[in-house]
Amino acid sequence: MSSSALHDRGNARVRTGRRAALVSAAVGTVAAGMVLALATAASAGTTLATAAAEKGRYFGTAVAANKLSDSTYVGILNREFDMVTPENEMKWDATEPSQGQFNYTNADRIVGHAQTNGMRVRGHALAWHSQQPGWAQNLSGSALRSAMVNHVTQVATHYRGKIHSWDVVNEAFADGGSGARRDSNLQRTGNDWIEVAFRTARTADPGAKLCYNDYNTDGQNAKSNAVYAMVSDFKARGVPIDCVGFQSHFNSASPVPADYQANLQRFANLGLDVQITELDIEGSGTAQANSFANVTKACLAVSRCTGISVWGIRDTDSWRASGTPLLFDGNGNKKAAYTATLDALNGGTTPPTSAPSTTAPPTTPPPGTGCTASLSLQTWTGGFVATVRVTAGSAGTNGWAATVTLPAGTAVTNAWNAQNSGSTGTVRFGNVAYNGQLTAGQSTEFGFQGTGTPPSDTPSCTAS
Ligand code: XIL
Repeated sequence: MSSSALHDRGNARVRTGRRAALVSAAVGTVAAGMVLALATAASAGTTLATAAAEKGRYFGTAVAANKLSDSTYVGILNREFDMVTPENEMKWDATEPSQGQFNYTNADRIVGHAQTNGMRVRGHALAWHSQQPGWAQNLSGSALRSAMVNHVTQVATHYRGKIHSWDVVNEAFADGGSGARRDSNLQRTGNDWIEVAFRTARTADPGAKLCYNDYNTDGQNAKSNAVYAMVSDFKARGVPIDCVGFQSHFNSASPVPADYQANLQRFANLGLDVQITELDIEGSGTAQANSFANVTKACLAVSRCTGISVWGIRDTDSWRASGTPLLFDGNGNKKAAYTATLDALNGGTTPPTSAPSTTAPPTTPPPGTGCTASLSLQTWTGGFVATVRVTAGSAGTNGWAATVTLPAGTAVTNAWNAQNSGSTGTVRFGNVAYNGQLTAGQSTEFGFQGTGTPPSDTPSCTAS
């Protein structure tokens, strides 16, 4: 069965500090706004999340709210993963079952679990032809366009500040060689529906990375070429897009493409992040393990491949369970595919994620104790989102605080992964419960949003 056939089946509503030390971190090279930090791993990560974090990546999974009462499931989730994607709970049919009536109960359970356990969240998905509520399926034209814009606004606003990346638009291109947009009620509202969705999402949650997500785009082909052309055009015209997600649903009829890494790289070269968003590979044993290792190595080889998410935890949790496509068997035991993925994460040698192009030069990691902080910015007229990366010195930290000096007239409106004291002038951001303890050389990121002119100085950092 081809991967698109699998999609058709799956979409048919059959709903039946987390890492060890980097001892020798060290060289910051700055060239034309590009930041490259080299690090040497001192020890192997023993879980997917810790091993990925040593390489500056996250490792995530799809999560179903109704499985959060399954102790085996939650045990693996909390041990192995640091990013979650609600498998169905943030989709249009789940969040707006009647027009204008929003229901966040199940999605909030997943977000709450993630926040309590120090995991981040990929939002999935704001605008998509599939899993629309019946009322939206029956709309067209300007009524559907308005409903889509309202949906994106409401949902992205509800989760503002809590989402690492949003799949703003999912699966908008046709399969096959046409390179055309997929026909859908959304597409029939006008070709600009995708950029309207992105602009709307940026306004609602300026702190989230905004992704286009699709399948059968994992290698270079007519469909991925068409997505590439759209993303190039968006970058050229300033349509807000920060990342492209590659679902990566593979099986024997649709194996990992030989040019998988090259395809990720060409998108990264457009100046945005790439993410592997829904990885599953049907099969078993060594062949399956090798495929997982190859995907993992490809991500590590692309500096702007910022993380990998698998589409479920145990084989029995999968939307295509009969293909046993995941890293844990039905009893929760680690499969060969798990070990191969972990080994690939620990064996990678590429530097951590590059910073956005607007990133200020980092402070060279210290030879001594304490901590350092570096700042990167996304700005727009009248406001900004700042991401601050805190890196522990050789003694590690029990807690930290980064102090940012804001220009006159600038104010912090909200912060995440840190607690601010004050909102104007000199603002201190202290760690929260789950990110205060850093081992030597380890980094963590927090963010804040502000109105006015963004700060320009490197934040100072103190460790405790
Ligand atoms: C799937 C879910 O895993 C299933 O539970 C549901 O029945 C159908 O959707 N591409 C996507 C995901 O972007 O949202 C899909 O998830 C799998 C394919």
